[in-house]
Amino acid sequence: MPNEIGLLEAIYTQRQITRYRPDPVPREAIEQIIDAAIRAPSGGNTQPWHFIAITDPELIEKIGSLYRDLWLGSLGATPAPGESPVYGAARYLAQHMPEVPAMILICADHSRGHAPHTPGQPIERGRYASSVWLAIQNLFLAARALGLGTRITTTHIRGEEQIKQWLGIPDHLETVCLTPLGYPRGSFGETVRTPAPQVTSFNHYGAP
Ligand SMILES: Cc1cc2nc3c(=O)[nH]c(=O)nc-3n(C[C@H](O)[C@H](O)[C@H](O)COP(=O)(O)O)c2cc1C
Repeated sequence: MPNEIGLLEAIYTQRQITRYRPDPVPREAIEQIIDAAIRAPSGGNTQPWHFIAITDPELIEKIGSLYRDLWLGSLGATPAPGESPVYGAARYLAQHMPEVPAMILICADHSRGHAPHTPGQPIERGRYASSVWLAIQNLFLAARALGLGTRITTTHIRGEEQIKQWLGIPDHLETVCLTPLGYPRGSFGETVRTPAPQVTSFNHYGAP
């Protein structure tokens, strides 16, 4: 396995990537990161997830354009005065989503959980989210280890019915997260966060 960096280095430098090189992502790399994703724990070991790797440029263009239009439609094509830089990065990604080299659509499979979905009934969104998000973080860290960038996006959910139709996804799957996948332009870099001591207590709340 071409994993050349340690786990902590991967965690500390797992920036959410907005700019991708056009180079294709090897299929074995996609298979490897999904194989890492499915190692996550899940409630009752039900493993209620499904991963759809999207590598067909026509599908990427269609889904990426839908994502772009939904994102720009709700948050705007130009920055609002005083906008946080986070939105600038997300807007850049939205504008370039149709050109990313690959995507992974991570789904919750409601036929695999504790309360299997009844055909014809609506799914209970979020029911298996805690298990699926652990798999998503595994997937992101494995991608980082292989030098591949990812970024959590959820804006596609407002276009979910269309995406499910394009990809032939059955009713019992809920789309949770759509990530672009590719080699980043530039470097990963250390993530910037509120320092841990400011969000940590020992024994009693507020005690250092
Ligand atoms: C639940 C969730 C939803 C997110 N949705 C989006 C999104 O729709 N579009 C986007 O570009 N980034 C999205 N992000 C990425 C965040 O903006 C990003 O994690 C944050 O800015 C930290 O980035 P950094 O790790 O590079 O510092 C989302 C992150 C989370 C955890």
